[in-house]
Amino acid sequence: MTSKNISELAKFYKKKRTERIDALEKAGFVGTEEKDLLANHLALSEDVADSMIENQVATYQLPYGLALNFLIDDQDYVVPMAMEEPSVIAAASSAAKLFAQHGGFQTAVTERMMIGQAILTNVPDPEKAIAIIDDYEIDIIQKANQAHPSIVKRGGGADSIRIREIQADPEYNTPHFLIVHLHVETLEAMGANMINTMMEAILPYLEELSGGTALMGILSNYATECLATASCRVPADALAKGELSGEEVRDLIVLASQLATVDPYRAVTHNKGIMNGVDAVVLASGNDWRAMEAGVHAYASRSGQYRALSSWKTADNGDLIGELTLPMPVGTVGGSISFHPGAKMTHHLLDYPNAEQLESIIVSVGLAQNFSAIRALVTEGIQKGHMGLHARSLAISAGATADDIELVAAELKNHKHMNLAQAKEILDHIKQNR
Ligand code: MEV
Repeated sequence: MTSKNISELAKFYKKKRTERIDALEKAGFVGTEEKDLLANHLALSEDVADSMIENQVATYQLPYGLALNFLIDDQDYVVPMAMEEPSVIAAASSAAKLFAQHGGFQTAVTERMMIGQAILTNVPDPEKAIAIIDDYEIDIIQKANQAHPSIVKRGGGADSIRIREIQADPEYNTPHFLIVHLHVETLEAMGANMINTMMEAILPYLEELSGGTALMGILSNYATECLATASCRVPADALAKGELSGEEVRDLIVLASQLATVDPYRAVTHNKGIMNGVDAVVLASGNDWRAMEAGVHAYASRSGQYRALSSWKTADNGDLIGELTLPMPVGTVGGSISFHPGAKMTHHLLDYPNAEQLESIIVSVGLAQNFSAIRALVTEGIQKGHMGLHARSLAISAGATADDIELVAAELKNHKHMNLAQAKEILDHIKQNR
């Protein structure tokens, strides 16, 4: 990583937007070109926007902010997040700051193997078909790789197959399916296009081998062979809050984690908190957040019940330890990554991580986000932290601009009822007395 002067980012949240961009330059994160792009809100050009989707009529913007203080595998990061929800970036940054004081996040990633599915129906003799397909594994892999030779040249490509059978089920009125999984090492790419090309290419051969009918060939977004884990620990003392001792807060966090392990209604919200962080980085990095969402929630259900994705426990020495494992179908090349100004900026600010490093960053942000949410929930609740930003949103909705936003928000916080009517009244009052 090129050297950065992180101390230039002190009190970042207190600065004006233009001052933040200047601070990023002083800290060595951006040069003149990137500064201009940031100043222009990472705008998509007309041509690029029009060529990305069909029937394009406008671009839809989201705020793009930086989560600070992340220490991941001994490397400092400021992490770009594209996000509409207030408090998320503040929460991630505050958790990251706490963990950075105690070693930061440690991560581990599996090999980057994505899965393609070929689905066969009407297979006359499934047992025989399975044996034949198994015998011809090398040929199947070869045909898949011939369909996308460039990945093989770069050292990746189709690697192996797994054969799965799903029996006919009278309860659901479903027939027998023979399913061939192709495991593909996608290197720096998420690999959706590559895998879809490979799967379509091998379908006729699989029909020939099995005597069945191919229904489809497509990537599976359930990326169980591409996982990333982050872990972190903090001494209980560092968790004390108000009247509550550090041990009490730790025990409440552990209890919250246990609850989300056994209650699906809580688990969904617990995991939503994790995805607040994950999706924001996935989106900012030009990756497919729908693929991430789909895979993650299936992974949360892998035991047969939907459960928390993270766990918080007490270590033998009394520290709080957290761990999160997520499927990580992300890449650093492909899709819009090479031309979308926001995605390009994110890779630049992260100092061009490879795909494994990007996985590590994303899963760490998820764990930080989860910690902040449950720590707030079991101590002061989340509304207190939300109120400041909520007040600002109301001020903007009431028509406040520039410095009036802070004036209205500050006044609004003194009122019992924080609502739009109140915000409008305060704004009118400020304007009349100017
Ligand atoms: C809100 O966007 C996310 C939380 O509900 C997560 C959680 O409850 O753990 C605060």
